[in-house]
Amino acid sequence: MNIRITGTGSALPGRILTNAELETLVDTSDEWITTRTGIKERRIAGEGEYTSTFAAEAGRNALAMAGVDPRELDLIILSTVTPDFPFPSTACIVQDMLGAVNATAFDISAACSGFIYGLSVAEKYLRSGSAKKILIIGSEVLSRIVNWKDRNTCVLFGDGAGAVVLEASEGNHQLCSTHTFSNGAHWNLLYQPGSGSRHPATDSRTIDGEMLHITMEGNEVFKHAVRAMEEASLKALEANGLVADDISLLIPHQANRRIIDATAKRLGIEADRQYTNLHRYGNTSSASIPIALDEANRLNVIKPGGKVLLVAFGGGFAYGSALITW
Ligand code: ACO
Repeated sequence: MNIRITGTGSALPGRILTNAELETLVDTSDEWITTRTGIKERRIAGEGEYTSTFAAEAGRNALAMAGVDPRELDLIILSTVTPDFPFPSTACIVQDMLGAVNATAFDISAACSGFIYGLSVAEKYLRSGSAKKILIIGSEVLSRIVNWKDRNTCVLFGDGAGAVVLEASEGNHQLCSTHTFSNGAHWNLLYQPGSGSRHPATDSRTIDGEMLHITMEGNEVFKHAVRAMEEASLKALEANGLVADDISLLIPHQANRRIIDATAKRLGIEADRQYTNLHRYGNTSSASIPIALDEANRLNVIKPGGKVLLVAFGGGFAYGSALITW
């Protein structure tokens, strides 16, 4: 069965936070952030803007490109680590905002790999015949769980959303494969300690101890990320009978320029076959790949028929890859 991406969309907050502004918040410099991460600026949600705000806008843009009416959707899968509420799912809120009255809607939690996980789940729904038109969204408002006093983390993250419409039909933009992997042994290298059942938000120690913020062992995450993204990429190549030279465009999770460079070097994919935008948006977790895919699509940087490799890594650890023939 053929499965196609028939539409892409993205949505970003208007507010830009530059490295120069961060210099006034924490002891950092544009030079440090640029050389260690490649990030120059990121987008920050304003008052009255939530994960659902950007998710719905990205979803509408993807649906418009696909020419799909929201009422035609069978399923909405939304990936986020920053839902509007612990429950109900943000996907249900977005279903309501879009008027997708015939869709089942649920969230998935796979941190920065959530969009790839979403693609993988959607692929199975389509291949089994359980759905015909699916909207997959990655949306985050990470600025609300970042510790703005911690220079180790606050410089890295940004807000935004990206989305795709996936349909079972003939034509271009074929989804050829998805692969997902988990390594729970390292769950505590990158996580948000507070607000779940271990440290409820109602417990004053959660707030006083700043447990509501992203907690990360940056160096360790870095090493695992490079190895895992290489593994997931090689799996995608092998499953499709391809080698790295066959890849037209690598769209990796946009976490850190050096993670992308190290991964691409191991694979042998040069800079002119990579799409990156982290200098403008920072790490938007599960939104990063669909935002980049939408930009690359709208800018026509993907060669028709070219092989596009998506690869992600994040908290869990959860990682994965997808291969598309454009
Ligand atoms: N400005 C200035 N100095 C800083 C800053 C900052 N913003 N942040 C850390 N430093 C300092 C540290 O305090 C340390 O100082 P010290 O030597 O006096 O102790 C020094 O810089 C070096 O710190 P390191 O942590 O060794 O710096 P490193 O080169 O490893 O870069 C970074 C840190 C950018 C976090 C890197 O480890 C990284 O990107 N890791 C991956 C983490 C990541 O991307 N996580 C996102 C989620 S997972 C994912 O999306 C893949």
